[in-house]
Amino acid sequence: MTPAQAMLHAATGLSLSKSEVDRAIRQRVEVTGARDAAAYLKDIAPKELEALVELVVVPESWFYRDQQAFHAAADYLAARLASAPERLLRILTVPCAGGEEPYTMAMVLSDAGIPGDRFIIDAVDISQGCIERARTGIYGRNAFRNQDLAFRERHFSACAGDEFRINDDIRRQVRFKQGNVLEADLDARAGSYDVIFCRNLLIYFDKPTTRAAIAKLDQLLRRDGLLFVGYAEVPSLCQNGFAPLPYAQAFGLTREVAVERRKVARVAMPPQPLPAPPQARPTLRNAPAAASPPPRSPAPPPPPPPPSARAAGAPPGAVTAPTADLLADARRLADLGQVREAEGKCRDYLAQVPDSADAYFILGLLNELTKKLQLAEDYWKRCIYLQPDHYEALCHLALLAETNSDAATAAALKARAARIYKRQQAS
Ligand SMILES: C[S@@+](CC[C@H](N)C(=O)[O-])C[C@H]1O[C@@H](n2cnc3c(N)ncnc32)[C@H](O)[C@@H]1O
Repeated sequence: MTPAQAMLHAATGLSLSKSEVDRAIRQRVEVTGARDAAAYLKDIAPKELEALVELVVVPESWFYRDQQAFHAAADYLAARLASAPERLLRILTVPCAGGEEPYTMAMVLSDAGIPGDRFIIDAVDISQGCIERARTGIYGRNAFRNQDLAFRERHFSACAGDEFRINDDIRRQVRFKQGNVLEADLDARAGSYDVIFCRNLLIYFDKPTTRAAIAKLDQLLRRDGLLFVGYAEVPSLCQNGFAPLPYAQAFGLTREVAVERRKVARVAMPPQPLPAPPQARPTLRNAPAAASPPPRSPAPPPPPPPPSARAAGAPPGAVTAPTADLLADARRLADLGQVREAEGKCRDYLAQVPDSADAYFILGLLNELTKKLQLAEDYWKRCIYLQPDHYEALCHLALLAETNSDAATAAALKARAARIYKRQQAS
């Protein structure tokens, strides 16, 4: 790690590649007129560090992103309110990016008939720019990526150009604050949140930082509260005292101890979309289920990539640091929705490391994003052909099989993922 990478890691928790950090520093050197990177970094002022952080964060979000999470949270919160009508429900979304996530929660709760004086949403992000944008409540096309935009009719008014402003009754429900999920000032509300959303942040952290962030979320969540994360983040939570709940595609968890007491399970579980394996504890559709008979292979593996794709002279698996950065860049670009650029990075990477399961996995994600599901499936199959224990690829293939109403294949893939997950936990 370079000193600049270490500095940004300490400030944000993010694991950033050298190229990402260098690019950000170059931009700030240009803006500030510093002589060079070394001069810029020497005794960097807190305000300038904030400006640098703005350039490395990925404030990608949109309304109703992975919307099952909001509906699952609303079901749970409505049940809580029914059992204690005088309670004020507290929800935290961290990181909240430009406010799309907390405002979505507010819209879903409002549409579910939960009165505004019964819930409050705290929304936190490390980026001051994001918090300022969120407070304005004005959004362009990029924030409306779902096909069903009926919510926009109900909760927004059109502004100039093609922008929309969220209505005040929804805006009032959310309190925005700049902050770092890893830092102490969030402790003020320890143990008070019924529901926490922490989605698409832990994927940018290394293992120790992920553990520290989970410990923080653990402090903030009520004893039997629910936590929602991104699909790829579920395993980290399971390794740190949380257990998945069976909301389809919602990626919700609760503390293991709460599952054992079966309190949340009784209050909150909606009907399951798929039968759970007989001896399984509550599981999410992409999370590990109990062991079951070995699955049939879902399809014959695709052929390995042609040897000509390997870079001349590069021994297999010999990944230099700049090459490894290509994959990190691909993930970042994928998150920004820059599909073509991300694909380019994956292909550059594959040219040097042709048997990279991770590169095929990302290509699968990119094709899923652009609705080329057959191609996505082919890439994920190639991924698990190269790395049969690729947990995320197996989960994605299982979800795809479910979407295609192929319950048998989905169950087999989930069981296989479950075994891998158990094995990984055991080691
Ligand atoms: C990809 S967005 C996720 C937004 C939203 N949760 C979602 O899933 O749509 C990641 C956000 O994390 C924020 N972030 C990065 N490090 C953070 C930290 N240590 N504490 C709080 N927010 C952080 C970034 O500013 C960025 O807005």
